[in-house]
Amino acid sequence: MDLDELVFHPWSVQGPRTVPRFVCGSGSYLIDADGRRYLDFSSQLVFTNLGHQHPRIVAAIKEQADQLCTLAPAHGSDVRGEAARLIVEVAPAGLGYVLFTTGGTEAIEHAVRMARLHNGRPKVLAAYRSYHGSTTTSIHLTGDPRRWASDTGAAGAVHFFGPFLYRSVFGSTTVEEECARALAHLEQVILLEGPSTISALILESVIGSSGVIVPPAGYLRGVRDLCTRHGIVYIADEVLVGFGRTGTWFGVDHDGVAPDLLVFAKGVNSGYVPLGGVLVSDPIYETFTRRPYPAGMTYSGHPLACAAAVGAIGAMHDEDTVAAAARLGTDILGPGLIELAAKHPSVGDVRGVGGLWTVELVHDRLTKEPLVPVGAVGEANAPMAAVALACLSRGLLPLILGNRIHVAPALNVSDADAANGLAILDVALAAADTFLSSAASEQAKHRPGPPVGAGPVSFGQILELRCRMDTARTVV
Ligand SMILES: Cc1ncc(COP(=O)(O)O)c(C=O)c1O
Repeated sequence: MDLDELVFHPWSVQGPRTVPRFVCGSGSYLIDADGRRYLDFSSQLVFTNLGHQHPRIVAAIKEQADQLCTLAPAHGSDVRGEAARLIVEVAPAGLGYVLFTTGGTEAIEHAVRMARLHNGRPKVLAAYRSYHGSTTTSIHLTGDPRRWASDTGAAGAVHFFGPFLYRSVFGSTTVEEECARALAHLEQVILLEGPSTISALILESVIGSSGVIVPPAGYLRGVRDLCTRHGIVYIADEVLVGFGRTGTWFGVDHDGVAPDLLVFAKGVNSGYVPLGGVLVSDPIYETFTRRPYPAGMTYSGHPLACAAAVGAIGAMHDEDTVAAAARLGTDILGPGLIELAAKHPSVGDVRGVGGLWTVELVHDRLTKEPLVPVGAVGEANAPMAAVALACLSRGLLPLILGNRIHVAPALNVSDADAANGLAILDVALAAADTFLSSAASEQAKHRPGPPVGAGPVSFGQILELRCRMDTARTVV
């Protein structure tokens, strides 16, 4: 019997599966039971920021395991304190305290609870294009269709539209317009919901699994200002983008913004031992110096997880991982993916920053109809299944979500490995192209994709490129 069949798998129809079974890994590679090597272009679920089996993290875990494997949260612990110190040191100013959890969704639950206890208001605003986790509050805050099956409508969540020029709901044609209109819309939502009823606003600083959407410069600052003006707690969800993924320590750093609460997980220790947490600002910390914080977890600040964080953050400093992630975007992934987009008519959009990118596949560049519908399975998902097969059969482990190929290698991936991954994506996109009608393929030749040979691109330049791409498509 295949023992994998005894495991109940998250987000899946249960039953036998055909997936690679990995037995070991090293750096950007995983090795399956047959000894085949796969280049990991997913960082799993975007968490192995330092790749697999990083020696510094493994050593830190081993050392802590030899000394003291576990300890209840009520006791003092040097490794827990050291992890908190290292996290606070790289966090935006004013976030001086850490509540440790065992993952992202749990941390979101605590951030929202802290906000509600702090200001006594019931509602929480969240973006439609978002994912915040799968426990009760976080799945209700999640804006994308992953919420639907669990939504009871009873969690006080109110959704709004964030900026997304490629599929603008505001009819914008420039990035500046999209930013201004998205902020005006958010202000209307706040005013019409009633500011005194809104406890918090939660926002991924770069939208991750719901589409890799980089906010325009100034948007996060505008959100910060609106929250301050209306006494709303600004919670930055940095679970996926925190700890270097976008080429800065945190996504909010791109706009020089400090939230009131910042939620992290994944990259804090590359996921070697489950760890998440909430960074807490002074005013909210103050609230709980007058009354106890009425919640906790048995494994809050687990020593092995904290040791892994100490090892990971130390390695990130020594290896200059954050700068490497920025360069990965500007010099390798950005230009490489834009070039692929120009070649393949099934690519509707390429967007991203640092070590987090997506290639969005469409039937037609003008209508932007997704190559597969939301929640597609079986025959309806054939194009993306073909993409996955083309990648896996050539030794590339992709991250495919809906009609998008997310590109998120380890931040320390070598240039040669990144180029090899892009070359395999080139073949996989050719497989996607075969699902287009000949008319759509022909039209795409006259309807330009992203500009070729754009050269090094910065965070701001990417947004500018995005804007030019959209203008080109609408006028042709
Ligand atoms: C932005 C964001 N928030 C929250 C979560 C939930 O984290 P976890 O899966 O660790 O519970 C995720 C998970 O992917 C995420 O991407």
